[in-house]
Amino acid sequence: MPGPLLARMSGYELRLLGPEDAQAIKYFYESLDQLSIYYRFLGIVKYFDAHVARLFSSQCNYAIGALASGALIAEGEGFSDCRDAELAFAVMPDYRRRGLGTVIAALLILEAYRRGMRTMEAYMHAENKAAIRIGNRLGLHMCPEEGGTYHGRAEIAAIRPLALKALEEKGAALAVTY
Ligand SMILES: CC(C)(COP(=O)(O)OP(=O)(O)OC[C@H]1O[C@@H](n2cnc3c(N)ncnc32)[C@H](O)[C@@H]1OP(=O)(O)O)[C@@H](O)C(=O)NCCC(=O)NCCS
Repeated sequence: MPGPLLARMSGYELRLLGPEDAQAIKYFYESLDQLSIYYRFLGIVKYFDAHVARLFSSQCNYAIGALASGALIAEGEGFSDCRDAELAFAVMPDYRRRGLGTVIAALLILEAYRRGMRTMEAYMHAENKAAIRIGNRLGLHMCPEEGGTYHGRAEIAAIRPLALKALEEKGAALAVTY
């Protein structure tokens, strides 16, 4: 049973994921190349069971997936203590540069707002131009830090309009039920 529909975008469905999607998320990460994994986790990760278990171990965390013909081709996660959240996301290489990264990140912000969270932050590798571009478009003000990463943070209520604008600009339509 697929999770609630959040948005549609040219052939893709963007849905909230749940524990029943744990295997699909694990398979998604296992299918990604090493550089993408490194950019996503800012470290080397080979086994994803613990990560997926942690994702669904708290009601304050949430995950959003983009599906093409039922297959997970992009995924984003919000880890939080129900007040302050951190977003991270990845898109399968064959589906990049179509706006999916931006749309998933924007939906992570909207879902955080819907859940009443206050702040959103993100960490990106300094060479990850696409991710930093997405963070800046969404108002996170990504700034370089020591150790080769960029960090950004913002009040979710303040950046919600930017998330809505980004969805429109990338051709995604929110579900009427959302
Ligand atoms: C980062 C990532 C999610 C981007 O996904 P995507 O679907 O290609 O993103 P979008 O299509 O929304 O592109 C976002 C912007 O980056 C630009 N962009 C995309 N790839 C780029 C690249 N390799 N170099 C420079 N800019 C790039 C796009 O043109 C777009 O800019 P625009 O909105 O001004 O037109 C994807 O590359 C990925 O999964 N990387 C591995 C995991 C990762 O890095 N996660 C992010 C850290 S949590």
